[in-house]
Amino acid sequence: MRTLDIIAEKRNGRKLSSESIRALVEGYVQGQIPDYQVSAFLMAVYFRSMDDEETVTLTRAIIDSGVTVDFSGLPSPAVGKHSTGGVGDKTSLIVAPLAASCGMFVPMISGRGLGHTGGTLDKLESIPGFNVNLSLAQFKEQVGGIGCALIGQTAELAPADKKLYALRDVTATVESIPLIVASIISKKVAEGDTGLVLDVKTGSGAFMKTLESSRALAEALVRTGRLLGMEVTALITSMEEPLGHAVGNSVEVVESVEVLRGGGPEDLREVSLALAAEMALLAGKARSLEEAGNILNQKIVAGDALEKFRQIIAAQGGDPRIVDDDQLLPMASHRCEVKAPRKGFVKSILAEPIGKAAMLLGAGRETVEAGIDPAAAVWVRKKTGEEVDAGEPLCTLEFNDDRRLREAIALAESAFALGDSRPDAVRRILERIAAK
Ligand code: URA
Repeated sequence: MRTLDIIAEKRNGRKLSSESIRALVEGYVQGQIPDYQVSAFLMAVYFRSMDDEETVTLTRAIIDSGVTVDFSGLPSPAVGKHSTGGVGDKTSLIVAPLAASCGMFVPMISGRGLGHTGGTLDKLESIPGFNVNLSLAQFKEQVGGIGCALIGQTAELAPADKKLYALRDVTATVESIPLIVASIISKKVAEGDTGLVLDVKTGSGAFMKTLESSRALAEALVRTGRLLGMEVTALITSMEEPLGHAVGNSVEVVESVEVLRGGGPEDLREVSLALAAEMALLAGKARSLEEAGNILNQKIVAGDALEKFRQIIAAQGGDPRIVDDDQLLPMASHRCEVKAPRKGFVKSILAEPIGKAAMLLGAGRETVEAGIDPAAAVWVRKKTGEEVDAGEPLCTLEFNDDRRLREAIALAESAFALGDSRPDAVRRILERIAAK
């Protein structure tokens, strides 16, 4: 079938054959089908969607555009974790060493931050010397050796996704469930996972703003992952306010270490432990979530989770002493506080303006090519439900470059809503969609 006819079929709402989907992906990767035709195809999918069979074929075609890491020789299944992204979401930095300290094998290929959301790679690179650019052979060896490696996307894995994602980004076709599912699941299968725990964020600071849309995405991710042979569990978690207190890069490493040490903010601990417990279940390390929770807590109390983090940092060329001395991490030279204009209770904190404020200070990037300042940050001092006096700090901005400070302050101020009574407690884990 000609590319034109494939586009027309989808535009008219018809189901595409596997041959058509494969021909399109292969032709695009090989440079035989131009961007303008694939753009039209993506827009047709955006409006007409795809059923499960088409989504699985698309995912498989993206996987087959590159190589797949094989962890089948390991004594227990390789279990991955993926978050759809949020503000202050540093759970990968906690969950990966914690899960590995329980004997799980955790291959983790992560991304960089864009816009108001941060990225695991940028956070890891704030650790002096940390190398996220391992070869696939080194990646595999490290996962087999110490249980975990944290790296960036390589050119060999799912190259079609990189090309398709870049095109979606400039054609307003990112927000399509089958396209998101194929993009995420292809990378997880290629990374070698046989089990996968998904953290699908929902709320004003998330990619999916409503519970219904987050549920639809989570269910489609679980179904597609299972149809491709993985065991998948999804948690839908709240992204109304930033997760934890730290938003930035080196500050998020500091806060992750606090959680691995047994402290840290309650919301971050709750979500991180819930995700790690689901991984323990999929890896066969526990028979129930309760048992998994006990094992994880023991590993934290014994110091094993923190020691695993030191091991991973050292294995990837980083300075493991940052775990015990956060002064070794990049720190900003200036700070400025945003104070409460009145006495009251924090009713809500919008994650998106806090993420944007951190970005304007240098913690994130507006365009894919932009650089970042690992030290720039926003520390959220008061969380939803806390009482505050007039003039008390709501958050602290940390920066080296003050060129966009005024804008950042205005955004941070706009994020906080204060009221006269204590609001209802925020539910952090809203739903669980389990692998059958
Ligand atoms: N994350 C991905 O990796 N792909 C998408 O399409 C959306 C979020």
